[in-house]
Amino acid sequence: MKKVLVATIKPFAPDAVTGIQKVLDRAGYESILLEKYENQEELVKSVENVDALIVRSDKADKEVIRAGRNLKIIVRAGAGYDNIDLEAASAKGIVVMNTPGQNSNAVAELALGMMVYIARNCFDGKPGRELKGKTLGIHAYGNVGKLVATIAAGFGMDIYAYDPFIESYVIEKDGVKVVDSAEELYRTCQYVSLNIPANEKTKESINYDLLNLMPAGATLVNTARKEVVREKSLLKIFTERDDFKYVSDIAPDCKDKIEANYPGRVYFTPKKMGAQTAEANINAGIAAANQIVDFIEKGDTIFKVN
Ligand code: 3PG
Repeated sequence: MKKVLVATIKPFAPDAVTGIQKVLDRAGYESILLEKYENQEELVKSVENVDALIVRSDKADKEVIRAGRNLKIIVRAGAGYDNIDLEAASAKGIVVMNTPGQNSNAVAELALGMMVYIARNCFDGKPGRELKGKTLGIHAYGNVGKLVATIAAGFGMDIYAYDPFIESYVIEKDGVKVVDSAEELYRTCQYVSLNIPANEKTKESINYDLLNLMPAGATLVNTARKEVVREKSLLKIFTERDDFKYVSDIAPDCKDKIEANYPGRVYFTPKKMGAQTAEANINAGIAAANQIVDFIEKGDTIFKVN
């Protein structure tokens, strides 16, 4: 009997867990649930005899991969797979997949929610600003970026996007204007929504030179990863510009400093919660379970990332 470990420090909604278990039961697989574990050793121990692993932002590092003697597949129930050591997995012939698009709407809704919150002075009752008519830059037009654009259009925002990997006409047919460089995007837009993955190329790529191009009333919205923003630049821009605001689902290491010094201009969710809705959990969790069954039964490698 194939064994599948579902390891989530931040648990899925109960309906998502039931859905995952149903898919695995139907395939005749055993599902093992490891939730809210407190240290990495628990994950290392639990992975020892399983054939497949489902994770969220949980770290599938070298030790986990080494310990998974029978491991054939790891599925990241979500988009970003920067938490998985792809090199170590590939070296052991383990397939790694993500579930693109399954939790994107939840993340996009949070991006707009944070924009409204900061534009209305964190709901302190004083006159704020509206999103209508403001320029919004979508930095990377993937599944989340596209949905941010769709929702922002409903607010009447003027939407731009920069994505060197997507043909302009694909973006333009959504009524979004395409710019040719990140610099142009930041120069044009009062709001910039970060939807880029964290990798060697993007880490710390959102730096002072880019941020300082933003026009008056600048707000940076980060539902991507904290690592993509250079924190030194963030601190410098806050010191120099009293119009700059930052909202993020992933608090920077300098959180305490900027919260204390710039109240009303920053907001960080208490825990990374962009994808933390029942709908997103159900979509991503069940997709992950189905991808595992399809891989083991039919060799289907859809959404393989290594
Ligand atoms: C993702 O990459 O899918 C999101 O960042 C969600 O991460 P989470 O599953 O840890 O909430």
